[in-house]
Parts: sequence; C-alpha cells; structure tokens
Amino acid sequence: VHPSQHLPLVLVLEPPPVFKFHGDQLSEKFQFLKAWESPLPLDQFLTIHAHSVQALLSPGTHPVTSDTIRLLPSLGLIVTTSVGLNHIDLPECQRRGISIANAGNLYSEDVADLAVGLLIDVLRKISAADRYIRRQLWPRKGEFPLGFKLTGKRVGIVGLGSIGLEVAKRLDAFGCNILYNSRRKKPSIQYPYYSNICELASNSDVLIICCELTDKTHHMINKEVLQALGKEGVIVNVGRGAIIDEQEMVGCLMRGEIGGAGLDVYEKEPDVPKELCALDNVVLSPHRAVHSQETIMALRDLLVGNFEAFFSNKPLLTPVTM
Ligand code: DGY
Repeated sequence: VHPSQHLPLVLVLEPPPVFKFHGDQLSEKFQFLKAWESPLPLDQFLTIHAHSVQALLSPGTHPVTSDTIRLLPSLGLIVTTSVGLNHIDLPECQRRGISIANAGNLYSEDVADLAVGLLIDVLRKISAADRYIRRQLWPRKGEFPLGFKLTGKRVGIVGLGSIGLEVAKRLDAFGCNILYNSRRKKPSIQYPYYSNICELASNSDVLIICCELTDKTHHMINKEVLQALGKEGVIVNVGRGAIIDEQEMVGCLMRGEIGGAGLDVYEKEPDVPKELCALDNVVLSPHRAVHSQETIMALRDLLVGNFEAFFSNKPLLTPVTM
C-alpha cells in the first residue's frame, strides 16, 4: 500500500496555483485525486471515484457545476482557493447540504494593493512611460503626455466588503474622497452612500469594482454608468470581469467617453479583447491580484486547516454562509 493511501482523499478538478509552490507539503497531508491527469472524460473519471470522494478542492476558475456535484453522492465539502463563489453551483450545494469554505479575508490586502497600483498606473501612466523608454522614444520623440493627480480624486468604491474597505483605507491615506455603493448602506461607515450606481458614477472621478459577481451585479456597470463616469473618469476592476459590460467598456474607451481603465479581470478569461491591448490608457493584469508569495503560503495553511477540520468533524476555519 502506498503511504499516501492512508491520507484523506481530496478531489481536484484543475491544478490550483498553490500546488506549484506548496504542492509537496499539501501532498504530505492529503491524497489528491487529480482529475486533469486522467485520460478519461471528466464524467467517467468522477463516476469511477464517485463514492470515495467526500471533499473537493477548487481553484476558483474551473466551474463546479451541478452535473459534477450530482456525480459525487458522498461529497460533503468544497474548499475553493478563491473568495469569489461564482464558479460553484450554490443552489445545488445548498440542496445537498454540502459545506463550502473559501479564502475568507485572506486576500483583501493584496487585492486592495493591486487596485491602488492599477489606479496609480493609469493616472500617472507608469506602464505607458515604461513602454516609452523601452521603445527608446525618450527624449527624441515628442513629449510624454501629462498624467493626472491622485490626491483629491473622488473615488466611488463598488462593494464595500473586506476588499473595498482595504481600498478605502489606502486611498484615504492618499487624500482621496471616498464614496460607495454596496448591497445596503453601512451604518458604521461615514463615507457618502449611493444606492444608485449611475449617481455614484456621476459623482466620482474613479470607480473601483470590488464586489462579487452575482445575477444582480452581472453587467451592473453598463454604458449608462460608464458615460456617467465621464470622459476623464477611470475604472478599475478587481472583482469579476462580467460585472462590467466589457464590450461597452471597450467602445467607451475607444471613443474617449471614459479616460482609462485598470483591469485584473475580464469577461472571458483568459481572453482579453485585443482592442484593450492597443490602448495606452489601459493597464492590464492577468487576474493575479491575490498572488503574492506571502499570501500563497498562508493559503496553503488555510486549506490544510479547512480540510483537517472537515475530516475531524470540527468547524471549518472560513465557512461560507449560504
Ligand atoms: C478570488 O479569490 O476570488 C480571486 O479572484 C481568485 O479567483
């Protein structure tokens, strides 16, 4: 008997980035059933292992559909390495009484750092200036265009959860004026609240999207909202691509109806509309807001803690309440 066969079994549909860095340590604690290594189609693979799988690890990009869940009658836990849950069929989990653990607040600081980084980059044209130097245009070809100041900007935060609050804390320190929209007004928060997203946009110089993707937030940032933000307005998205109507955003950027964008997420990842790559007032990042060395190590420990809790019938560390 291989020693790992005594370890609790965890199904993994796709390799999460944490495997690349800490896969060996994780494999000392759990036996991972790696679906992507099997030559079989997924449904056949799942059918073979159906009864032995009680726990599943999801990287947060690969969908965990009702079809997958139905093929696993013993499944009791899904641990996702993401904060976002839009890739999991939640009603099916609820119906079956399957528990979910996510990354909790683990990533909030990193995501907020990247949001602010993208914003400063768009305003001060850091990436564009880098390209300017690398193309050896300095100082021969014209003058590099002026950027915009961050201090004093009115920043509308969409989604004032743990990530949004970290963004607000950072931008407060930069002397910005924070406004927000959230599912509901938060009595303990002193920033002006806008229940109407168009009104928030027309009172903001910058919109930062920090909310989750749900049926309600899908394409919440539409053409009307973008036009309300105005032609010097900047949009930053560290939530999910589909919260913005991407096609409309591309059109607005190309027609100069908004001033710029800093994006970590896209509607059809890993596809990035090619028009965006041609625009100098757009800064692009490949959905990596959560990827810092320190955080990926903390994620390893959180995953271990959640699985160990489940397999020993203890409360999960970061349960999702549905
Ligand atoms: C998250 O945690 O939701 C990140 O976007 C990674 O998927």
